[in-house]
Amino acid sequence: MAEVILGKDVSAEVYAELRTRIERLKSKGVTPGLAVVLVGDDPASQVYVRKKGEMCEELGMKSITIRMPADTTQEQLMAKVDELNKDDSIHGFLVQLPLPSHLDEEAVINAIDPNKDVDCFHPSNVGRVLIGNPDFLPATPAGVVQILIKAGVDVSGKHAVIVGRSNIVGKPMAAILVQKGAAADATVTIVHSHTKNLPEITRQADILIVAIGKPRFITADMVKDGAVVIDVGTNRVEDPTSPKGSRLVGDVDFDNVKEKASVITPVPGGVGPMTICMLMANAVKAAEKASEVKQ
Ligand code: GUN
Repeated sequence: MAEVILGKDVSAEVYAELRTRIERLKSKGVTPGLAVVLVGDDPASQVYVRKKGEMCEELGMKSITIRMPADTTQEQLMAKVDELNKDDSIHGFLVQLPLPSHLDEEAVINAIDPNKDVDCFHPSNVGRVLIGNPDFLPATPAGVVQILIKAGVDVSGKHAVIVGRSNIVGKPMAAILVQKGAAADATVTIVHSHTKNLPEITRQADILIVAIGKPRFITADMVKDGAVVIDVGTNRVEDPTSPKGSRLVGDVDFDNVKEKASVITPVPGGVGPMTICMLMANAVKAAEKASEVKQ
């Protein structure tokens, strides 16, 4: 039976350190400021954005949420990005994705000042992660790394199999784990929807990181005995027994896989809380960098 790692336990240590850094910044007259831009009214995005704002407030950071209507034009959104790039009280900001389909996400990401890009989505920040000289780390993969450290997983030389090749999770996760250094030095394989014999490869994983967006995609027969299993998926599925009529499940069949794994993260409560935590870490880092430049 696996050890179940909860994001709230891992994030508590990170938050304690962030609070100290925020106090230090405030003693120099700098209040770290994070802005989140939300276009339209996607229900899941509304929840994520609210949680980000609440966490900023809890940490004593400045928090701005900018809500724009679903029919916002590209020009209006680009003007907002430009305004935030120039606002000295905002050290980091992000534009919540997905955007309504008439908007060009890539153009928006490219327009964000890389020094304020707390999502680490701008091509220059993505490139820095790839060459092993990052300013920011993308929040979800960075949260997974913190979980591996907290669980005492020795990553060096292990076979890490990543299921999913998104720009937000799969690709940067691979880039981070393959680097030289602590909590890295892994042998990395990415599998995806076109991979042949996918279960054969997942069964070779010492560390299996799943971010494919399919409910309970990874079943117990696809997992090696004693593997470390990190579930990044968040899928809403129908559940007539729940008052809401639905509930969240991961990409891993948790109940069965936990019998085989040595370490596992649940959904909800595993990687999710770490993503917000690492976003806050990036916002604090952006404020520290900006205040160093000013001195
Ligand atoms: N949508 C889902 N996850 C994310 C994220 O980490 N950042 C942004 N900007 N949008 C998202």
